[in-house]
Order: sequence, then structure tokens, then C-alpha cells
Amino acid sequence: MIKHNESSIPGMVHFPMQQHFWRTLSNFIADLSSASVIAVDRLERIIVFNKHAEHTFARQARKVLGQPFRQAFPSLAEHEYYPLIALHQGRELNEVETYYCPYTNKRGVFIHSTALIKDNLGSKIGAIWLRKDLTCKRRFQQEMSNAAVGAMVSQLAAGAAHEIRNPLTTAKGYLQLAQQQAPDEVAKYLKIALEEIEQIDVIITQLLSLYHPKAEGLQFVSINSMISELVYLAKNSGNLLNITIDLALDKNIPLCLIDEKLIKHALLNTLRNAIEAMPKGGTLSISTQYFAASEEICITLKDTGIGISEKNLKQIFKPFFTTKKSSGLGLTLTNRIIQHHGGRIEVQSTMGQGTIIRLYLPVFPP
Ligand SMILES: Nc1ncnc2c1ncn2[C@@H]1O[C@H](COP(=O)(O)OP(=O)(O)OP(=O)(O)O)[C@@H](O)[C@H]1O
Ligand SMILES: [Mg+2]
Repeated sequence: MIKHNESSIPGMVHFPMQQHFWRTLSNFIADLSSASVIAVDRLERIIVFNKHAEHTFARQARKVLGQPFRQAFPSLAEHEYYPLIALHQGRELNEVETYYCPYTNKRGVFIHSTALIKDNLGSKIGAIWLRKDLTCKRRFQQEMSNAAVGAMVSQLAAGAAHEIRNPLTTAKGYLQLAQQQAPDEVAKYLKIALEEIEQIDVIITQLLSLYHPKAEGLQFVSINSMISELVYLAKNSGNLLNITIDLALDKNIPLCLIDEKLIKHALLNTLRNAIEAMPKGGTLSISTQYFAASEEICITLKDTGIGISEKNLKQIFKPFFTTKKSSGLGLTLTNRIIQHHGGRIEVQSTMGQGTIIRLYLPVFPP
């Protein structure tokens, strides 16, 4: 940190020893901080650049201390010079959250606080900026909450599904009976009611499989053949209106030790989502890759559909989250199946352009 000799610490001007003590203490605290701390003097020169800032901005403190802030961080938009805004306009930031950092050109979750520093006569003598990177913490919290919600729903599902299914089956039976005897006008409504019950039944089946994914046992399976079979089925089901499917299957993929039925189910869910995201048609590219070093395979589904907003992207694995008036359990279940196999899912999406889903699976589950 810079050695600045102004007598700026209120009440400390006549006591050089105490001034030294406070300076050492504040430097010590700033260096321990898990935030980047940068302070400028009233001439915009950098006077504090803590260890975290050195790491974040990949610069050495001794090279930037004393430099004008704008020179150290050129080419930013005026509203991005946070400490200078505090210094000149007195506008301080109080834990403001941003999702992009222009200083590092990174996406993530960043918290900014700034404060104007005044001397004991009230004149501006500088400004301080604290920048915290919460990207990893938030991701971890998100994953934890997904896992916790998942576990809770699984338990709820197991407890409630059977209870619901029994009276539902009775209701379905009576409705079918009534449908056979009712005049056409009424039978029409009963048919709709029965269809709705079918839908509830599908949801219950999904909920139950969330709790006990129906494991068939592990077998060596060719992922490429499985994909080709699913694509063949999709093409023949007549669901692919104006959708072109591009297949790029890596021939070097070894057989994978998986539960075929479960993985098929997971793939089908993602395939269905991709198709449903392209109601006006588009291209669905499916590829497979093998990473020999990590002994894992990657199945990539890329659609040119409606895309997923940044806000929704955080929710798609949560049970019952849907934008389609559907059950919202497809990806919850898919995630659970892939995790069950020791794999992981990555999603990338741009609104209006499409979505890429990558399913990573180890060749041998742990
Ligand atoms: N390829 C995709 N393109 C656009 N949005 C998607 C895509 N995949 C998933 N989504 C979004 O994620 C949400 C959750 O997906 P999920 O498969 O869990 O449920 P669902 O498709 O709505 O219902 P279900 O699969 O249970 O019938 C969807 O409603 C949709 O908003
Ligand atoms: Mg779905």
C-alpha cells in the first residue's frame, strides 16, 4: 500500500506514532479482506490497492499505487468508474449487485460498495471502493437449495403420491362408467375430465420415480445407438414439424456402464424440451464426445428454439418449475438421474437464439 503522509486520520494529526499504528492496522485489515479494496485520493490517484485487488485485477499494488485511477483502468464507461462517482458526485453504492464486471470482463455476481472520504473539516479527500465476488458462493447456495428442495420434494412425493393415486383411480373408474352411459353432450365434458386425470396420473408417476428412480441395474450400453434409436422414434412420432435433426456422433465412444432405462428417460426429457422450444421449427443438433483423460462422455443437445432467460435458468432444475403449463418435473428428474450416475448437466442459453444442454456421464459410474 502507498505511504501517504497526509494527516487525514481525524484526531491523529499530532500523534505520529498513533498515525502509524492506524495506518498499519487499516492496511492489515484491508489485506485480510475477502473483497478487493481500492481507494483514491481527491486527485483520483490510487492510494490503497489491497492484496485481493492485486489478485482480482492481476496487477501489482506497487505498480498502480500513485497512478490515476482512469489510467490504471482505461476504456470504461463513465458510469463504471465507481469510486470516482462517489468522489465527484457524492453518489455512494451500498452493496449494489451487478452480474457483469467491466474491470475483468467476467460474468458473475459482484457486490459493490463505495464511500466518500472526508477530512475532519468536511472536505472531500478521497473515495474507497469495495468489490466482492459472490459468484461461487451464490452458485454453491443455489446448488444446495436445489438439493435441499429436491430431497424434500422426494419425501413429499413418496408420502403423498400413493394417497392421491388411490382415490384418483376410483374417480377415474366412475368417470369412465358415467362416460359410457352419458349422452354425447355430457360425455364430451367427461372425456376432458378423464384427460385431466390422466395428466395428474403422469405427474404422480414422475413424482414417484423422483423418489425411487426405477433402476434396472447397470449394463454396458452404446450411447450412440441409444441416441439414434430415440431420434428414429421422434422422427416417426410426427412431432418434428419443420425440425431438422443433425447428428454428430463420436465413433470412438466406449460402451458406458449405465442404467439404460433411466438414461433413456433423461435423454427423452431433454429431447422433448428442445422440440417443445421450437414450435415454429428449427434445428436440433445432437452430438457425442469422449474425453479419454477423464473417462467421461458428453452428450450435447443444441436447439435453435426460444431460449431461456437468465432468471429462469436458475430455476429450471427446481421441481414444478415450468413455463409451459406442464408438470415441470422433466429436468428435475433428468438431473437426478444424471447425478445418480455420477455425471453433471451444463446449460447455456440465449433468449431468441436457442439452448445448449450438455450431459456429462462417466464411462464407469462411481
Ligand atoms: N431446450 C429448452 N429451451 C427452452 N426452454 C427450456 C428448454 N429446456 C427446458 N426449458 C425450460 O425449463 C423449464 C423446465 O423444464 P422441465 O423439463 O423441467 O419441465 P417442463 O418441460 O416445463 O415440463 P415436463 O418436462 O415435466 O413436461 C421449461 O418449462 C422451460 O421453460
Ligand atoms: Mg420438459
